Amino acid sequence: MLRHRPTRGRRTAGLLTTALVALSAAMTAVAPTHTAHADTATLGELAEAKGRYFGSATDNPELSDTQYTRILGSEFGQITVGNTMKWQYTEPSRGRFDYTAAEEVVDLAESNGQSVRGHTLVWHNQLPSWVGDVPAGELLGVMRDHITHEVDHFKGRLAHWDVVNEAFEEDGSRRQSVFQQKIGDSYIAEAFKAARAADPDVKLYYNDYNIEGIGPKSDAVYEMVKSFKAQGVPIDGVGMQAHLIAGQVPASLQRNIQRFADLGVDVAITELDIRMTLPRTAAKDTRQAADYGAVVEACLAVSRCVGITVWDYTDKYSWVPSVFPGEGAALPWDEHFAKKPAYHAIAAALGGGSPAPGGDCTATYRVTSRWQGGFTAEITVGNGRTAPIDGWTVTWTLPGGQSISHVWNGYLTVDGQRVTVRNAGYNGTLGSNASTTFGLQGEGTAGTPADVTCTPAQPFGTPA
Ligand code: G3I
Repeated sequence: MLRHRPTRGRRTAGLLTTALVALSAAMTAVAPTHTAHADTATLGELAEAKGRYFGSATDNPELSDTQYTRILGSEFGQITVGNTMKWQYTEPSRGRFDYTAAEEVVDLAESNGQSVRGHTLVWHNQLPSWVGDVPAGELLGVMRDHITHEVDHFKGRLAHWDVVNEAFEEDGSRRQSVFQQKIGDSYIAEAFKAARAADPDVKLYYNDYNIEGIGPKSDAVYEMVKSFKAQGVPIDGVGMQAHLIAGQVPASLQRNIQRFADLGVDVAITELDIRMTLPRTAAKDTRQAADYGAVVEACLAVSRCVGITVWDYTDKYSWVPSVFPGEGAALPWDEHFAKKPAYHAIAAALGGGSPAPGGDCTATYRVTSRWQGGFTAEITVGNGRTAPIDGWTVTWTLPGGQSISHVWNGYLTVDGQRVTVRNAGYNGTLGSNASTTFGLQGEGTAGTPADVTCTPAQPFGTPA
């Protein structure tokens, strides 16, 4: 079963690409030239070109809003189930499990080719009252049963699970939840072990808020993850929720992401929103946009920061105003589904909206399909200057473990880890603002190289 499904467009592209691979093996004649523009790509596509995902949380009541679901289904590569995988919904009474609402979201995401994050297995909130009445000696078994049943139920359909949520206080002490009080410190490790036993492949995360910057709370989570790694407790990642306030993005965000990554875990920004005091003004929108851009840049700067999820994407369905009266407007789309400056800042930080650096010639690398042991990618070469380009050369360093088996619409040279692709005879000339693509099939794990560079060149007569 697929854990990271390609988007619907990607699947079509994958089929096309497969056809082109077959064609290119035998061909030398004319091959189609595609065009793709960074300024029309979705946030999901832009993030994927950077080897990340960009997703949104959603909740069941919103799914009857067709204007909402149209954007939810097209703009994002990933979905988090915002409410209905929580214990209150999935095991409302002891031993009676109900996944009806959660499955509605997962089915929708799958039909849109989006990967899914499960949220959340063990949390002190949205917990049915019966759990509080379980005798201390039975709660560990009850917790394990809950985790085992739910993880097993969704096995193979989720990419990530938030196993334990919000277990620490601001000062770094453990939150006195029913699990902490009745099971003790060990409950978190036990939760991860139960989840791993139920699904060896899904990525298991600890998730919390106010751990985006370095401070007592993130220090405590850091020490826990460090000890889990030392003891072999199966943790794969840390989710930084990132419910932030405009103008207050922690200066240590990137350093903090990096220190967790250095422990050998992935990091995800799992619930991003950046609220402001209402009413919105142009100045506040500008501040918020810069903050969204800064969060995206911090994630992109750390290779183990795997993706970003906004906690729903439109102000129409944000949780913020109901919990923080007088605050809101926290998301990249407004309540009428208009894109805000924050949207454009995210797109720009992901490399969209304006040409990527590289002088007059730009190259954007996008993974178009992936499977166990292989992948295909499409590289868009663009001319950002007014004069035509008469030939181009794209170079990059192969990520470890990757090799390239075919290139089409270009000529490949590989020297050690250094890859060079030159234009074919028919696609070297690019007029002002024109673009073309070439493709490749590779072996190894798909991943976007960090240093894809295009250099305009004179036409060359002989293929390399
Ligand atoms: O489903 C009932 C509905 O039947 C009823 O009519 C209505 C009346 O208030 O309530 C509905 O339940 C609400 C539920 O969201 C679904 O909309 C709950 O009252 C409300 O408390 C609940 O809020 C959720 C909150 O978690 C609970 O703490 C938010 O939607 C959800 O966005 C929020 O998400 C959390 C993450 O899980 C963890 N991190 C923080 C984040 C924001 O608080």
